[in-house]
Amino acid sequence: MATTHDWRPCATPPALPEATVHVWFADLDVDATTLARLAGVTSEAERARAERLRVGSASRRFLAARGILRTLLGAYLGCPPAAVPLPAGGGNEKPRLLTPEEPELRFNVSHSGDAALLAFARRREVGIDIECHATGRTAERLARRFLTDAERRLLESLDEPARSRAALAMWTRKEAMAKARGTGVYRSGLPELELGLGSDGEWLTTVDPAPGKEWSVRSIRPPDGACAAAVAIEGGPAPLECVRWTSGNGPMPAWGI
Ligand SMILES: CC(C)(COP(=O)(O)OP(=O)(O)OC[C@H]1O[C@@H](n2cnc3c(N)ncnc32)[C@H](O)[C@@H]1OP(=O)(O)O)[C@@H](O)C(=O)NCCC(=O)NCCS
Repeated sequence: MATTHDWRPCATPPALPEATVHVWFADLDVDATTLARLAGVTSEAERARAERLRVGSASRRFLAARGILRTLLGAYLGCPPAAVPLPAGGGNEKPRLLTPEEPELRFNVSHSGDAALLAFARRREVGIDIECHATGRTAERLARRFLTDAERRLLESLDEPARSRAALAMWTRKEAMAKARGTGVYRSGLPELELGLGSDGEWLTTVDPAPGKEWSVRSIRPPDGACAAAVAIEGGPAPLECVRWTSGNGPMPAWGI
């Protein structure tokens, strides 16, 4: 399975072949000029949502994330970022493109502190999760809640620090699965989805008991080595390309910002 995992700064959006998953890493603490350009492509509803976030850094990061998401969606769709039909979000629903037919381009976003991951795929649901601040103990508590009995036993068979590392990997994979399915983590039946322990870079495939759909998930290593992350995709394993979003004089003017 082809994997480009080098997080190279990307000057133009690479072509997104039918079967491939693209994952973008972005640092959300951008300079004031870049933030103004990114905020400039967001919708009124998105800016209103940003205003409701009382902490200044959360508001700025939300605007940056939305601006980057719109920029990338615009590049894939070949339309100006401000014209991308995107809901403001903020509820429990998985954000999707608002198109009359089922959208061809699927995406998902995750942020943790100043880091964001954005995943894109064609005609296959995709989910992404990044955790930069979870301690081993928090990860273990969360993981245990959403693991199958067999997975819990596997985790308990490990000694520290391998157990904390495995808990964080298992938790991020389960959350990425929940986000691909759009169910949220609490109503998702995650404790019934058997993924096992897995290892870095390995795709794990499981079948959704209810709809009988296959899902694949794997850990990814964000460029900031302190964060854990995972990407999930509908169907079997997919070629994965990981790139880094850059601001400044590079791609943005060409992409309409
Ligand atoms: C939605 C949820 C998975 C997000 O996880 P998180 O670790 O808090 O946050 P992340 O940074 O990873 O993800 C946030 C992004 O996920 C996306 N998102 C929101 N709801 C989603 C859902 N149901 N499925 C997939 N992605 C979702 C949004 O793009 C959001 O970013 P934005 O608000 O800036 O647009 C988690 O909070 C959850 O499960 N909440 C319960 C909601 C629920 O039960 N929904 C039921 C829907 S039927």
